Amino acid sequence: MSPITRPLIIGVSGASGLIYAVRALKFLLEADYAIELVASKASYMVWQAEHTIRMPAEPSLQETFWREHCGVERGGKLTCHPWGDVGANIASGSFRTLGMLVIPCSMSTAAKLAAGLSSDLLERAADVQLKEGRKLVVVPRETPFSLIHLKNLTSLAEAGARIVPAIPAWYHHPKTIEDLVDFVVARALDQFDIDCVKVERWKETEAEL
Ligand SMILES: Cc1cc2nc3c(=O)[nH]c(=O)nc-3n(C[C@H](O)[C@H](O)[C@H](O)COP(=O)(O)O)c2cc1C
Repeated sequence: MSPITRPLIIGVSGASGLIYAVRALKFLLEADYAIELVASKASYMVWQAEHTIRMPAEPSLQETFWREHCGVERGGKLTCHPWGDVGANIASGSFRTLGMLVIPCSMSTAAKLAAGLSSDLLERAADVQLKEGRKLVVVPRETPFSLIHLKNLTSLAEAGARIVPAIPAWYHHPKTIEDLVDFVVARALDQFDIDCVKVERWKETEAEL
């Protein structure tokens, strides 16, 4: 188990693909990381649409909810925050973190982050990571991208964020949906130098004919 140092913030926005957040959280908790999680207001609707389930808003109930969905009853440390609590620890630059992963990242959240808006806790926490020069990794999920989406993602990259789109590879011979999802999660966590996802990595010998 890795020693818990600073927490990693996970922001879950209202883009399709909650499974990306679930799988990221599973691997991080299993590896004993401390996670501060904030899910946007819209993400509650996506839980309904994708899993026909209501995510509880109350923090301790939400922690149980995420752990149940990850299949990690114990391990790591998970703290959930209400989406509107802009007075939470993660809203302050004085709260030291490993950075923040926004997974999945909607185009609305990407736009607000690119514009420096902090209209909810997720946006504020991400804005704080940028202003503090910490890592901000976003996993955008939309298709096709409009020019506005691309410009916003470019602005974020220019401001120092890493853009890891939810685009899996196929060279690792994925057999399940989890194989596809985990590839993206692994590449996103690579940006923090966190290597806790069980995925096949590229081996040059496999390309030999
Ligand atoms: C079921 C469902 C799926 C959605 N999928 C996406 C998506 O993949 N990408 C996206 O940018 N927005 C998507 N949206 C729209 C966002 O939820 C909407 O723009 C919302 O305002 C985003 O708010 P947030 O960024 O604060 O979470 C989806 C909405 C619903 C209800």
